[in-house]
Amino acid sequence: MDQDKILEEARAFAEERLGSETTGHDYWHSIRVRDIAMLIQKEEGGDPFIIQLTALLHDVGDWKFVGGDEETGQRMIKEFLENHVDEITADRVLSIIMAKKYRGPKEESQAVNKETQIIQDADRLDAIGAIGIARAFASGYHFGQVLYDPDFPPDVEQSAEEFKKQYTGEKKNTTVNHFYEKLLLLKDKMLTDTGKRMAEGRHQFLEIYLKQFFKEWKNE
Ligand code: ADP
Ligand code: NI
Repeated sequence: MDQDKILEEARAFAEERLGSETTGHDYWHSIRVRDIAMLIQKEEGGDPFIIQLTALLHDVGDWKFVGGDEETGQRMIKEFLENHVDEITADRVLSIIMAKKYRGPKEESQAVNKETQIIQDADRLDAIGAIGIARAFASGYHFGQVLYDPDFPPDVEQSAEEFKKQYTGEKKNTTVNHFYEKLLLLKDKMLTDTGKRMAEGRHQFLEIYLKQFFKEWKNE
């Protein structure tokens, strides 16, 4: 099967699997990540086929949103890959999807290949700015979070293990806390120069949004 046909089937697979997802991890998130990733690829290089294929598949079966565990989501992607690409390509795509995951405010940036850097930056760019804010509140509803609680401060010192607890039901969080524990930190975690540049405007918008949010909260 030629690469264009594989990419079209990956697109259709994402559409079928993610079309009705309501937490901001829907089909259009995959398309946006693909398009952002290819803008970065133009500047930074990297294998365009691997980048597009990974972007389209990366959130199919994300365990945090479909329920179940990490393996269930991986299995869906694995099955698609087994039917469409060779083993080496399949392993490359799966390893990028595993490597790019956010591991809490204290995560260390890993020494990774170009394609992983680009997918990670693109996925994270779609988590900030106006679209990122919309996605955060939609996800917050999914996790049963309140918007904001002045008696519940964010924890930017927590470990990856602690951070994961909000997704297993062991811990509650608020969506405004998520801004401090993830979204506002993403600008400085960008791995490519192009990603860093693209993050600036979106980051500024997060700050403007929070300023207004607290202004209204205090009736100023
Ligand atoms: P990653 O693939 O990097 O692990 P996720 O799939 O966890 O990223 O998150 C993608 C987006 O989902 C986040 O940037 C955010 O918009 C939303 N999200 C994840 N966790 C939360 C949360 N606890 N509260 C609000 N939004 C969240
Ligand atoms: Ni994503």
